[in-house]
Amino acid sequence: MKRFLICAIAALSAFGLSAQQKMTWDEAYQKADELISKLTLEEKIGMTRGFSKFFINGSPEKGMPYMYLSDASGGVHLRPNLPASHTLEQLEKSVAFPAPIMLAATFNDALAEAYGRAVGEECRAGGVEVLLGPGVNIYRTSRCGRNFEYMGEDPLLTSVITSEYIKGMQSTGTAACVKHFVANNTEFYRKRSNSIVDERALYEIYMPAFQAAVDAGVAFIMTSYNQLNGEWAGQSEFVIKDLIRGHLGFCGGVMSDWDSIFSLENMLKSGQNLEMPGMDWKEGIPELMAQGKFSEEDLNVMIRPIVATCVAFGLYDRPKYDKSLAKYEEHEQVAYNVAAEGTVLLENNGILPLDRAGKTILLTGKFLNEPPRGRGSAYVEGYDFVGLPAAVKAEFGDDVIVVPVADDQQIKSADVVLLSVGTIDSEARERPFALPAGEEAYIRKVVEANPNTVVIVNSGSGIRMTDWAGKAAAVIYNWYPGQNGLRALADVLSGDLNPSGKLPMTIEKDFADSPAVNSYPADVELPSETGYVYWSDVIYDVKYEESVLVGYRWYETKGIEPLYPFGYGLSYTDFSLDKVKLSSSRMKDGKTLTVKVKVTNTGERAGSEVVQVYVSEKKPTVLRPKKELKAFKKVNLRAGESAVVELELDTQDLAFWNDEIHSWDANRGEYVISVGTSSADIACTRTVKY
Ligand code: BGC
Repeated sequence: MKRFLICAIAALSAFGLSAQQKMTWDEAYQKADELISKLTLEEKIGMTRGFSKFFINGSPEKGMPYMYLSDASGGVHLRPNLPASHTLEQLEKSVAFPAPIMLAATFNDALAEAYGRAVGEECRAGGVEVLLGPGVNIYRTSRCGRNFEYMGEDPLLTSVITSEYIKGMQSTGTAACVKHFVANNTEFYRKRSNSIVDERALYEIYMPAFQAAVDAGVAFIMTSYNQLNGEWAGQSEFVIKDLIRGHLGFCGGVMSDWDSIFSLENMLKSGQNLEMPGMDWKEGIPELMAQGKFSEEDLNVMIRPIVATCVAFGLYDRPKYDKSLAKYEEHEQVAYNVAAEGTVLLENNGILPLDRAGKTILLTGKFLNEPPRGRGSAYVEGYDFVGLPAAVKAEFGDDVIVVPVADDQQIKSADVVLLSVGTIDSEARERPFALPAGEEAYIRKVVEANPNTVVIVNSGSGIRMTDWAGKAAAVIYNWYPGQNGLRALADVLSGDLNPSGKLPMTIEKDFADSPAVNSYPADVELPSETGYVYWSDVIYDVKYEESVLVGYRWYETKGIEPLYPFGYGLSYTDFSLDKVKLSSSRMKDGKTLTVKVKVTNTGERAGSEVVQVYVSEKKPTVLRPKKELKAFKKVNLRAGESAVVELELDTQDLAFWNDEIHSWDANRGEYVISVGTSSADIACTRTVKY
């Protein structure tokens, strides 16, 4: 692949100055050099690695305080067991926001900004200089235990949400660290996996969200655990120098994921800036320096971007805490709003909204005693967590019957059954697409015994619903909704809220349909129903054979009908899309094309719809997806109201990554523009020439 010029670490240009920076990169690098020149050799070596697991080293007396790093995308992960050596007035509490996949399900860029800002404010209040998020790895397989931390399967949706999240967060002064670069889309033996990815998939699918983060001015990038085509990402020159510095044009600091460096020597050559949290190497930097393998000048070059980023973002010379930003009530409201707009209604035979008058409601199933939320570094404890029984009772009355496993009589005698199902997903683990057999059997039994069953799914990823979804009266995806998101769910059930969430990924009928099905080595133990496998002595190839056909790109192109398509979600009202007009029948370089569409709320109540614009090339010269999302807009309309929605495209939206010339490229010819409300529900198509 083409080598790109390394950006401002050497060139000291003003390129890439973001709104949140206090000064240009030129100035920041000059200041960094001054600060570094005052450090002893030992202090410089200290700057190459973390300190006390979650700190960037410093030299406070020389104007470089320690920086505290905290997980994760969905709120501040409080760490009660931080070493006492490090006095830190942590927050006494932090809001557990809905998981980022739920944020993506809102398809609402303004909410992404508000969410990032709220988390950023809590960081500032708690002395967190760097938030270890957002996680932007693409949803490639429903089994990935970290999908809840990410933003779904589509590069554009992920990019838009990421960009707004970062702008919101960094407007508070908190530096974001976008992660995990790159092709880290499985937790299958996560420190033992080698992602085999072709050039096109890398550039078209896996890198755009990182590019969006860099364009939004992100301060840090974290490399990933996996190998990319045979090289550990955190110690790969190709990954760091060519992709991050060259292609993305990133000027900020790069850090490794925790304990992901396997060779100090390789890491030192790779352009990595910071090893987190820092291993006890047998032969450390002093030994390598004594052997002439690494010089003090190399050391300076290595640590400059971290220091320059702290300088550029003003992290060194501001009060550590801004307690006035612990605006919990406002943040709780943001969390609620995201849960309200991210809840996705998948089925509804008319039972919802629920008219409760005189009805017996039975609440049964999984999440009656434990909150549905993800585990791992992204775990956020939250406070005043509203559980499912409390949320449902607050909405429908204390006489709601709550029974974790109900008998036939209880199920049949209820007028309405609310059935809770789902999974607890986690970092470092993959889980089967299908729920454990016993849980699936219980769901089938309940929906068959009572036709008025509303299934509530809480999960961080897709689950198998094929046997029962069509039989349930309603199905709602409520993800991991955060500390008050089950209240939003109850409001959707009662009709106080009209659902408007859309799936940020496709849900397949069976895992065999998934683009990722062949990527797991045939002879290796796959995740079992209850046990998880993730550690081994060998390195496993994870083959991205589907190339650019990830998510709906796969299902659409291969003609495989999923259970629920990307972008899909119902409302309590109806919408029609018509009068699609293009501003021109021809697209020209440097000019935008406006797609206008009239959206009408034809139902009886106010609601929101997401207009989605997909593009495809009529006669491609390479394998191209049948549809690619290139623009979307959420619009809120009163009953009977219409609006003309305008979306813009340009010729980059026609392009594919040409692996012969190693660049974006668009063929001359005809392109189809499809306008709809999901990847499968297209109201209208138009053709445009380029
Ligand atoms: C995770 C990162 C996280 C880091 C620090 C790692 O295991 O992969 O996402 O930021 O731990 O907690």
